[in-house]
Amino acid sequence: MTPLDTDKIVSLAGDSLVRLYYKSETSSTNDDALELAKAGAEPGTVILAESQTQGRGRRGAVWMSPPGTSLTFSYLTSHEYISGASLYPSLLAGLSCVRALKQLGISVLVKWPNDLYLNGKKLAGILTEMTGSYLVIGIGINVNVSSFPSELQDIATSLSIEIGAPVSREKILAELIKSLHQTLHSSASHIDGLRECCALTGRAVTLTTSGRRIEGHVRGLGDEGELLLWTGRSTLVLNQADEIRFA
Ligand code: BTN
Repeated sequence: MTPLDTDKIVSLAGDSLVRLYYKSETSSTNDDALELAKAGAEPGTVILAESQTQGRGRRGAVWMSPPGTSLTFSYLTSHEYISGASLYPSLLAGLSCVRALKQLGISVLVKWPNDLYLNGKKLAGILTEMTGSYLVIGIGINVNVSSFPSELQDIATSLSIEIGAPVSREKILAELIKSLHQTLHSSASHIDGLRECCALTGRAVTLTTSGRRIEGHVRGLGDEGELLLWTGRSTLVLNQADEIRFA
């Protein structure tokens, strides 16, 4: 395994990176970030790990990623910066990732509310958590993963699989940090950008929300990033959903 070159990350990310904690192994970078937040860490701090022993996904899921081929990191920010943005933090984080990858010529979509999709498969997951005035944005992205277990093969992918060649993890991470910094610190409206990269718009889906299973057709996103779901009789405006499947 070739470890990440932290000097390269620091130099590529420039002023957007306030402080970088690099660990070869940790339980979860989100847990580390939450601890650092409680100790008063500076917004813009990044916690990066080659591997996690207890990586966490949404709804209590486990996040697994092979060391040396993925990026697992958490970006610490403050509500102060994002409160004017009106969109949900995970959507802003997703949009930041879309913009970062676009800079590198890779076109990905946000599968509302917290996944990144590339060619119809999951490329990355985002887990946002809060403590006090801090927001922790945890991102796991499959960069150079060459294969997935059979049960994931049809639903997960990596940048190297889709591009057909290995990709620099350092470049990807630096671009993600720069984009998070720019997007989260900008007071501009991000809703148009998000609408453009919404993987669900126009699609028939089945989802569960508050224990109810609902089928519908996604009309798009509301002004604050809510999912607008046409059920055949009315449009539901959702700010939360558990599993969402393409019908
Ligand atoms: C999901 O798809 O359910 C979200 C996955 C989020 C995984 C990342 S990896 C870095 C950070 N640390 C964690 O424990 N989880 C997030």
